[in-house]
Amino acid sequence: MTGIIYGTGACTPSYIMDNNDIAKLVETSDEWIQERTGVARRHIITEETTVSMAVQAGRRALENAGVSPEEVDLILVATISSNVILPCTACQVQKELGAIHATCFDLGGAACTGFVLAYNTATAYLAGGVYKTALVIGSESLSNLTNWKDRGTCILFGDGAGAAVVKAGGERYYLPVTHSEGSKGDALTCKSRYQGNGLTSEINLEEMIDDEHFMQMDGQAVFKFAVKKVPEVIREVLEANEIEQEDVDYYILHQANQRIVEAVAKRLKEPIEKFPMNLQEYGNTSSASIPILLDELNRKGILKSGQKIVMAGFGAGLTWGASILKWK
Ligand code: UT7
Repeated sequence: MTGIIYGTGACTPSYIMDNNDIAKLVETSDEWIQERTGVARRHIITEETTVSMAVQAGRRALENAGVSPEEVDLILVATISSNVILPCTACQVQKELGAIHATCFDLGGAACTGFVLAYNTATAYLAGGVYKTALVIGSESLSNLTNWKDRGTCILFGDGAGAAVVKAGGERYYLPVTHSEGSKGDALTCKSRYQGNGLTSEINLEEMIDDEHFMQMDGQAVFKFAVKKVPEVIREVLEANEIEQEDVDYYILHQANQRIVEAVAKRLKEPIEKFPMNLQEYGNTSSASIPILLDELNRKGILKSGQKIVMAGFGAGLTWGASILKWK
């Protein structure tokens, strides 16, 4: 027995910044950003927070699944951009949803691999019989961690949340495959943080002079890591579960960069049509990118019963991993 996704939900801020808006902050252009990343727009919080987006995405996922908040016995939130350090985002989601029977905790620091790791944690608990109904969420206000003066990073990121209701059931447990390489951690760091982003909140950008308060990234190192490790881990997870590539319907990759997704498809010799993308609209939303995309595909009716999906995340740590799921 393992977990089955019964429903999905998402929430993205209504305020949209396109590439021309970014070009007013740093020396760049719509053409450069689209060519190098595929990103055209990103949604940025104004009134929304990591908690409020997680609550909204979670509520929509429960409605979509036809599951009441009282039925949920596990809430996991993957985030690197919680509103506050304590209490954790998952407990705040529990409070807002009234999921009074749930055990709640965050997976902090798992970054762009966060949703895959949270999903794996939930399915392991479900397979072990510890819990029966899990709400798994990725929610991020990355705009609060972004240096809006650094064109090497600020072009990439956006805010949003995605969620999935996972219930015990299904005929088999798909083993996930995950890896970490702490020795390469310097490639993507954030040593401290502000609350607020200086764009849509009160913080004064001119006073935000210490780079350590923001994400710092060796873009090329992360790019090379992703295009090498993601195809490898996808092959590993398929082999571990004795599934052939031709039996996979969709690969839902963390939405970091269109060129990364295309390179992974090419290395796996798979058609790009098997790699849905929505990074054009949202940019890189870290732990939220996979469940936001999953929700989009679910609501558009693109996912059909019995289809096999591989999810793959990669990011800071460095961490990466892949999981297989069969659509309900
Ligand atoms: O969730 C995981 C998180 N991270 C990622 O997935 C990021 C992975 N890396 C990337 O996506 C890419 O490395 C970037 C999009 C960040 C950068 O693209 P790139 O093709 O690796 O560019 P580059 O850093 O090699 O820079 C090429 C040139 C440089 O100019 P010179 O030295 O050739 O004259 C940069 O200064 O482009 C310049 N450049 C820019 N120009 C216009 C760098 N950023 C910009 C920019 N606008 N925003």
